[in-house]
Amino acid sequence: MYPTPPEIERILVTSEQIEQRVAELAQQINQDYATVERLYIIGILKGAFIFLADLTRHLTIPHAVDFMALSSYGKTTVSGAVRILMDVREPLEGQHVLIVEDIVDSGHTLNYLTHLIHNRRPASLRTCVLVRKQRNGINVTVDYLGFTIPDVWVVGYGLDYADRFRTLPYVAELKREVYSQK
Ligand code: PRP
Repeated sequence: MYPTPPEIERILVTSEQIEQRVAELAQQINQDYATVERLYIIGILKGAFIFLADLTRHLTIPHAVDFMALSSYGKTTVSGAVRILMDVREPLEGQHVLIVEDIVDSGHTLNYLTHLIHNRRPASLRTCVLVRKQRNGINVTVDYLGFTIPDVWVVGYGLDYADRFRTLPYVAELKREVYSQK
């Protein structure tokens, strides 16, 4: 049994639920892209690396895996502008692109990304997200969604608090006192 850190308030999505849902999402993606020559999957670092690793190991369609690393200028800014720290290695024009993200919170990051990649003229562009917070945010389209979660600070399965708790096997709510102390 994996020990639960004392900073965890409650588990929102168990590792078993994640495992099952990730397999279902991959199955759907396999079906939807069955006739495509190659799917170009872009994982958004750092948070997406665990979700991406599990998802892609269920894929039976031809696919390439690449990454982008982004840094937001501040989550509270209205613009939601993000800076590209690391870009993909191939031109995206004419490619079937799937963005893989761990979370949609305000929606700024995914909104920015989809516009950015759309401007590179891919053949198609869809998004796959593990968890989306139930809150008033940007109305960005998520084509493949794992779970809707409450608007609380979540960690685990790629999600962090100050780079901690990313490798917990579940998605959990962090105790309020952990992030409100600062
Ligand atoms: C997280 C997450 C998304 C973004 C979502 O990244 O991975 O990219 O925030 O938030 P939004 O919907 O409010 O834009 P973060 O900046 O924490 O970086 P990390 O993945 O490297 O931890």
